Amino acid sequence: MTTCSAPGKVYLFGEHAVVYGEPAVPCAIERRARVTAEKRSDAGLRVNATDLSLDGFTVEYGDGDGPPNVDAPRSLVEDGMSYVEEAVTQARDAAGDPEAGFEVTIESDIPLGAGLGSSAAVTTALIDAATRELGTPLAPREIADRAFRAEYEVQDGQASRADTFCSAMGGAVRVEGDDCRTVDAAELPFVIGFDGGAGDTGQLVAGVRRLREEYGFAATTVESIGALVRSGERALADRDLSELGRLMDVNHGLLSALGVSSRTLDDMVWAAREGGALGAKLTGAGGGGCIVALDEGDGARTALSYAPACQEAFRAELATEGVRVEDP
Ligand code: PMV
Repeated sequence: MTTCSAPGKVYLFGEHAVVYGEPAVPCAIERRARVTAEKRSDAGLRVNATDLSLDGFTVEYGDGDGPPNVDAPRSLVEDGMSYVEEAVTQARDAAGDPEAGFEVTIESDIPLGAGLGSSAAVTTALIDAATRELGTPLAPREIADRAFRAEYEVQDGQASRADTFCSAMGGAVRVEGDDCRTVDAAELPFVIGFDGGAGDTGQLVAGVRRLREEYGFAATTVESIGALVRSGERALADRDLSELGRLMDVNHGLLSALGVSSRTLDDMVWAAREGGALGAKLTGAGGGGCIVALDEGDGARTALSYAPACQEAFRAELATEGVRVEDP
């Protein structure tokens, strides 16, 4: 039995535009998914998921071709399980053991579909745990690559390397197409607001794609996000927090222009700003879920905790460690 964990992340800058080759800077945060994999004597796969900020569910796969036995609504299970299935496929492939079966247990304190990289964290931790269990441990960069391939399959080719690279490596990273690097970043004063909801990454990415194909100005907006990220990188290197905050505000405006914000995300962004944040933006795919603000004091977190749109407000520390082995 092997247990591995991997962190979630926030996007300091650049989500959505990164899908079209612009740079993005996600930062890993100390909210982790823990995945235990235990090799079975047959080729079956059994998955127990708990604490996914949703009611827990169990899926039992037999050896045959019949549908899995599930005790939760189909759509929820299909979403979560497709990442698990693709991660297992990658682990089997990496270990050269296509018939390997597993008991998988997933625990996570990253809300699902809320822009904090829950699927990347589960996929990354599962590939690490399953390949170790098969006696073929992989280097973090290879785990990142395999996790990206799994996400790419699930999201019909509409995925960047940003989430999975960040989750595997930890810290702040920079991703531009296939060029993935870690970035020196001191602790940033992140505050997160969560509206209790979720967005559908596939649908939101497809919406931006349509807009970008239809209107030249939407394509220009995507390029503007890329230019903003380059300015943001300089501010990050100089640790210029007020410039970082100002650019986060602009980044949120550009994401809104691409149609991926929501009433609750906008309300939380404004609550954080009015509470004294240096800047605030949605994080991840959008549509609902989380915003990230920069605030060294407690004003933004307090303002968020009173905002009707916000269900949970918390500080998030940079996770300097990416995917790692845990005691079972
Ligand atoms: O909300 P999340 O954690 O699924 O982040 C999606 C980020 C996108 O840039 C919108 C898509 C991607 O694959 O980079």
